[in-house]
Amino acid sequence: MRIISIANQKGGCGKTTSAINLSACLAHKRRKVLLIDMDPQGHSAIGLNIHTGELKKTVCDVLYDSNDAKTVLNDVTIEVGNNFDIAPSNISLSALEQHLSKVQGRESKLKEAIDGLYQIYDYIIIDCPPSLGLLTFNSLIASTEVIVPIEMSLFSLHGISKLLKIIDLVREKTGHEVRIKVIATMYDKRTRISKEVLQDIQKHFQDSMFITVINTNVTLKEAVSFGKSIVDYDQKANGFRDYMALAKEVIAEEKILGARPVKQKKPFPPATMVEKQFIYDAPGASCVKIAGTFNNWNTSEESLMERKKDGTWSKSVYLAPGTYQYRFLIDDEWVADQNNSNQVKNPFGDKNSVIKI
Ligand SMILES: Nc1ncnc2c1ncn2[C@@H]1O[C@H](COP(=O)(O)OP(=O)(O)OP(=O)(O)O)[C@@H](O)[C@H]1O
Ligand SMILES: [Mg+2]
Repeated sequence: MRIISIANQKGGCGKTTSAINLSACLAHKRRKVLLIDMDPQGHSAIGLNIHTGELKKTVCDVLYDSNDAKTVLNDVTIEVGNNFDIAPSNISLSALEQHLSKVQGRESKLKEAIDGLYQIYDYIIIDCPPSLGLLTFNSLIASTEVIVPIEMSLFSLHGISKLLKIIDLVREKTGHEVRIKVIATMYDKRTRISKEVLQDIQKHFQDSMFITVINTNVTLKEAVSFGKSIVDYDQKANGFRDYMALAKEVIAEEKILGARPVKQKKPFPPATMVEKQFIYDAPGASCVKIAGTFNNWNTSEESLMERKKDGTWSKSVYLAPGTYQYRFLIDDEWVADQNNSNQVKNPFGDKNSVIKI
């Protein structure tokens, strides 16, 4: 049985979409699959049309049961398709860390639950939450493999080194090898940033990276809103093609697994990229963003800077060698970098700051 966590503490990088659709595609290829939702948001369950608020028992009861009657994973699993079961979660799981704070061996609760399964599965896929707390730690300790979805945007490389360190810690603590493979998600072939991030990640992870790339595909989003996997929603969609290709790659590894321990000792991020910290002093501002040629001047949530106690705002960005223009968006006003005198005129008659890496 292969137990695969889908983990990355970064929110919205495609963990749940990958967990649901990889599970569904593996089941479509006649593998028996259990998807365990380890996220209190319950998105895996919701994405498969389960009303999580109405559930009497969930994964939380398996990991922490205050009653004498012990709940096991089989008690909470629900069949959602041929060869496809889910162990759902809901908001109750968010209190687990508190419930287990004084319990010895709290990091191994999920592993124990899986050891006690009497249903036989070919694959257990675990959808992790966007954090590196007890829930993700439980998932990693229970797993033989981790798939790390990395979305193809500038800020997506953040925190990967921290996740890799935690996986190392799991290896040391449990003595078992946890194999890591990266999957590129939300690839948009029209953008330069998608291509650059993909190339860098491919260079770094090499054969610890799936050849399949998951493209941005609106049908994947639609399928979730209808409570269906892409297998049940639309087999003509590019999203189905991509996740089926991923499932085939995962299945192809069945023959070789165990034969080749994977080494993960290279530094991350790739040596070609440089971490640059941008700082802007704006104590009175309520929202500060940074955008530039490195992210196609995108001012979505990802470009938000973090407010520090001293009134400055900061954000680290990994940049490949090159020259970039950028500006800050202070509430609704664009301004150049007060700490950088290197500027050029922009088409609006204002100044853009320039940075060379
Ligand atoms: N390949 C894709 N194409 C288009 N939309 C996608 C794709 N993958 C994911 N999405 C959408 O992006 C959003 C975030 O995806 P998802 O919920 O899978 O991320 P996540 O990593 O599980 O998030 P969280 O960290 O909150 O658990 C969702 O609205 C999802 O429908
Ligand atoms: Mg999720």
